[in-house]
Amino acid sequence: MRDLQLLADEALYCSFGDTVHYIEPPQIFERCEGSYLYDAEGTAFLDLQMWYSAVSFGYANPRLNNALKKQIDTLPQLASQYLHPTKIELSKIIAQDAERKFGTRGRVHFNVGGSQAVEDSLKIVRNAKGKNLMFAFEGGYHGRTLGASAITSSYRYRRRFGHFGDRAQFIPFPYHFRGPRGMSKEEYGEQCVAQFARLFETEYNGVWDPRAGQSEYAAFYIEPIQGTGGYVIPPLNFFRGIKKVLDQYGILLVVDEIQMGFYRTGKLWSIEHFGVQPDILVFGKALTNGLNPLAGVWAREELINPTLFPPGSTHSTFASNPLGTAVGLETMRMLAETDYETLVMAKGEYFLAGLRDLQQRHPEIGDVDGLGLALRVELCQADGFTPNKALLDRMTEIGLAGDLEHRGQRMGLILDVGGYHKNVITLAPSLHISYEEIDLGLILLDQLLRRAKGR
Ligand SMILES: Cc1ncc(COP(=O)(O)O)c(C=O)c1O
Repeated sequence: MRDLQLLADEALYCSFGDTVHYIEPPQIFERCEGSYLYDAEGTAFLDLQMWYSAVSFGYANPRLNNALKKQIDTLPQLASQYLHPTKIELSKIIAQDAERKFGTRGRVHFNVGGSQAVEDSLKIVRNAKGKNLMFAFEGGYHGRTLGASAITSSYRYRRRFGHFGDRAQFIPFPYHFRGPRGMSKEEYGEQCVAQFARLFETEYNGVWDPRAGQSEYAAFYIEPIQGTGGYVIPPLNFFRGIKKVLDQYGILLVVDEIQMGFYRTGKLWSIEHFGVQPDILVFGKALTNGLNPLAGVWAREELINPTLFPPGSTHSTFASNPLGTAVGLETMRMLAETDYETLVMAKGEYFLAGLRDLQQRHPEIGDVDGLGLALRVELCQADGFTPNKALLDRMTEIGLAGDLEHRGQRMGLILDVGGYHKNVITLAPSLHISYEEIDLGLILLDQLLRRAKGR
């Protein structure tokens, strides 16, 4: 009853410009814990997307919540122009880790949300290179501010907002399941690299002036595993090929780890799977486990040193807010104390095996794949290939209605939709999910598929 009144008020007073009304009617939640959200009646919804990977360490994680509470009792507020210890300590941990892994010194710059950190990274690139054009991937997603939209492949996000003069040039990503027939994943990756390299063959390919030795493009923005694009995992040698081209033509590599960072794929940064060094790395989401927002950029010293990127180059009131940096610091300490790599890879393999088993029973599952706990299930017609967005829409609706059944209890299942055809379940469960909860997730997915197919 109360929810009905709230929904009526929402329809009158809330903008519909966000993503709430992607599903009708929207669901109202009251409480969260671990891998579950709860509605007003106490119905448990198993969450297999965890706020698009922002809550990777479980809802209401006691350790991270306590870090927030402790900071509230000491220094909850401070203007971003002043310093506080956790900002410095967190920057040091991230920069020292990057120096160890990428072999180069760098600095960290904080902002609030992921898109804002992407904007800051664009400023760093433009400032260093004096150019404002970028390469990015088809299927890539970097946020919905104007700058981030310009390097995000979906025209849907730009269409109503005028001309984007610095729209990126979008390069094909090796999305093997929908790639050319008869080609291995590696061969397809090589073909995509060759297609990219071809752009630099002559001045007539449009991006390179061989006389001046200059590219019109400053940087390539990549997600190592595509997020919104449907958790597409490229071949492991792919980025080495791309990086070779970038190095040859003096183009920076910017790695967007906003969704795949913080061990989603079994490594702190997903790019670590691919053996290449970024020039700039952008992070957000899980750093604060969905508590006070904090995102940021790590950049090589040559690009972000105080002479080149002096005070005032970028700023936002809530950037480096102490509640965010305190939680971020605790997250990094927690990650250093436990072997998340082994834990995430083992759970990921277990979940993936369960999904493969599900695929045997449902021909509509055209593809399953995963790296760590970033898992994809691509829904198709019974031919196992033609994209079936309608089936997934029905599944998300039924899951969100909360009337699945398990051991005599009503339950819901929270799923996120991604992919070029919006037919991919992008699974991002809590990294702390138990094996029993993975089993439950598989049972509920099976039930959901049968119900949605039956409609
Ligand atoms: C890879 C990637 N980059 C950027 C963003 C934008 O971050 P935010 O939504 O925090 O602005 C997202 C958000 O989903 C993302 O997944």
